[in-house]
Amino acid sequence: MTALLYCASVTQNIYDDPAFFAGYSALRRSREGLAGALEWSALRPMLPELSGLRVLDLGCGFGWFCRWARSKGAASVVGVDVSENMLTQAIRRTTDEAIRYERSDLESFTPSTDAFDLVWSSLALHYLVDVAGLLARVHDALTPGGRLVASVEHPIYTAPTRPGWRTEEDGRRTWPIDNYATEGSRVTDWLAPGAIKQHRTVETWFNLLRGADFMLGDLREWTPTSEDVAAEPELAVERARPMFLLFSATRG
Ligand SMILES: C[S@@+](CC[C@H](N)C(=O)[O-])C[C@H]1O[C@@H](n2cnc3c(N)ncnc32)[C@H](O)[C@@H]1O
Repeated sequence: MTALLYCASVTQNIYDDPAFFAGYSALRRSREGLAGALEWSALRPMLPELSGLRVLDLGCGFGWFCRWARSKGAASVVGVDVSENMLTQAIRRTTDEAIRYERSDLESFTPSTDAFDLVWSSLALHYLVDVAGLLARVHDALTPGGRLVASVEHPIYTAPTRPGWRTEEDGRRTWPIDNYATEGSRVTDWLAPGAIKQHRTVETWFNLLRGADFMLGDLREWTPTSEDVAAEPELAVERARPMFLLFSATRG
């Protein structure tokens, strides 16, 4: 494994590992953008009308959401990511001066106070050790009434020490969980050996939002719908356990 350390922080920045990045770039969500992201149709209804909004995208990756937000009338978008590889792709795909990308580690990133109407984060927050600190700063960066909409890997997905499907004697596939209540780092071999994510329970995610003075709006545990499975039968197994936790919250 050649995980690159960033600024001597706790951040692994595995998206700048060449093998990991090659694997991530080949995923459907990387090739097709929001339309290729399984959870997009469940997240989209959590968003406000974007016209005129100032938007912040935390862990923006290739910038798919930044460009979509502008296409829906957002006044400006700032995309933040720690990975040079991801930002290089985002910049390459963007020709819009109202979108600005910034390389920064979310463990310490401090947006300006009252500077945004919407903060979006797709599948990035479960990499962070100090989510409480970021949520407090995001709360202050939102205007009163502003919204946070985010997705993370679901705690049932992140909990196991060795995450993966097991095939039972009767052919059923199960997802064994051995360590739900023990929070903290999980080292997985997803795309490259040694990728580190942070496991938290559903209760902790809820309390983190409440502790940062957010009012919880929507909460969804994403599994494919029967329509999704009819269109893509290989998704049927994903109904055995939720893959993503999706939520929206408002600054009071
Ligand atoms: C699964 S990708 C999601 C990218 C994009 N949000 C999307 O949904 O297509 C996770 C992103 O979070 C970024 N990320 C992870 N940890 C980070 C950190 N500490 N600071 C900033 N970005 C981080 C990664 O570099 C990567 O681009």
